[in-house]
Amino acid sequence: MAGHKLQAPKGVSEYVPPRSKAFEFVRDCLINPARLAGYQLIELPVFEDTELFTRGVGESTDVVSKEMYTFEDRGGRSITLRPEGTAGVMRAVIEHGLDRGQLPAKLWYSGAFFRAERPQAGRYRQFYQVGLEAIGLDDPAIDAEVIAIADAGFKAIGLTKYRLDITSLGDTQSRAAHRVDLVKFIEGLDLDEATTSRADLNPLRLFDDKRAEIRDAMAKAPLLLDYLSEESTEHFKQVKKYLDTLNIAYVINPRMVRGLDYYTGTTFEFVHELLGAQSGIGGGGRYDGLMEELGGQSLSGIGFGLGVDRALLAAEAEGVISAESFVSDLFIIPLGDLAKEKALHIASALRRAGKTVEIAFGDRALKGAMKSADKSGARYVVVIGDEELSSGSVEVKNMNSGVTASVRIDSLINAL
Ligand code: HAM
Repeated sequence: MAGHKLQAPKGVSEYVPPRSKAFEFVRDCLINPARLAGYQLIELPVFEDTELFTRGVGESTDVVSKEMYTFEDRGGRSITLRPEGTAGVMRAVIEHGLDRGQLPAKLWYSGAFFRAERPQAGRYRQFYQVGLEAIGLDDPAIDAEVIAIADAGFKAIGLTKYRLDITSLGDTQSRAAHRVDLVKFIEGLDLDEATTSRADLNPLRLFDDKRAEIRDAMAKAPLLLDYLSEESTEHFKQVKKYLDTLNIAYVINPRMVRGLDYYTGTTFEFVHELLGAQSGIGGGGRYDGLMEELGGQSLSGIGFGLGVDRALLAAEAEGVISAESFVSDLFIIPLGDLAKEKALHIASALRRAGKTVEIAFGDRALKGAMKSADKSGARYVVVIGDEELSSGSVEVKNMNSGVTASVRIDSLINAL
């Protein structure tokens, strides 16, 4: 019986050729600046004990209260597919004692994350992030460097139509002072039950409410930025100074609320102009209480998560990715078995030298093989037959201009 056609689950992002090349390019652009700054890879499980996220990310967040993929495994344990990366990194840092070595511990990661959100353009149930965490020091220069690393990634892709929003959520003292006034303010509003209980868990969440009536009501709410302690004010001032030094433009957005509860101090978001509702291409900040909350020492940390899917959409919207840059350097068409052996040799040697080389397999006639070469978009094509084998030279055809040149096989590398 013929089976029916199966489809990917609703709302997941997946990348198949030719677009997967662009995805790979974007992801590499986002990872590379972290590597250049001395961050090291941390590769973690995509599922963790559910408790890690309820404790780490916070019960007032949509991520924990509505969007987690949680299930019982065969041993009756509650497991959750990771909705974000920071809690897992912190768990691993504590478990492996990385906080006992050189500080800050500097880690990067890249992979799939899972949130059961309502799917729409740029919002998926499985999506990809490149992230990093710097754990152990609260030097404001690290905040600026972390932001600069994210910015360098977006610039490497070629993006220009985005802005950086920053604010500070201050220290415990700042937040406590603000909370008193904010709670008082919220008590004066006429809110439904669900909103009130959300506000009870974390009153800052109301700044994030998309409903017009709540937005209007919150327009006059006291802002945390006006309640920063002297120390937090000084820290934020330093961060801004270093960003200025680095020539990184930012907008201070005192109403920014991140979707996760662990943030303290500097927080930031990169927002792209052309992406509509899902415009956040990356975000992050400091999380001073997280390590302790998860059973570790009381150390500060800062990091970011960059949305690879959204950065790719942004790159496509800006038209900055050229398919040109992903094509092979050379396409070899061998005619006959001896030529095939030669082609395999040539391809290996050129690949060792870093060239992308494809071979036409399957003993097709020249015409069909030329068609494949053309379709592949390769920059150059050579045909190897008996004549080329005996002369040791090939005609290298530039597929853009159509111009051919005769080149010795052993110096082919110079012609590409
Ligand atoms: P986040 O802001 O929740 O932060 O996610 C970071 C980025 O992931 C977002 O800016 C967005 O580009 C992308 N993203 C989030 N959800 C989706 C989705 N459903 N579909 C597509 N893209 C999405 C974090 O996850 C924090 N762990 C970042 C961090 C690291 N903070 C400190 N260290």
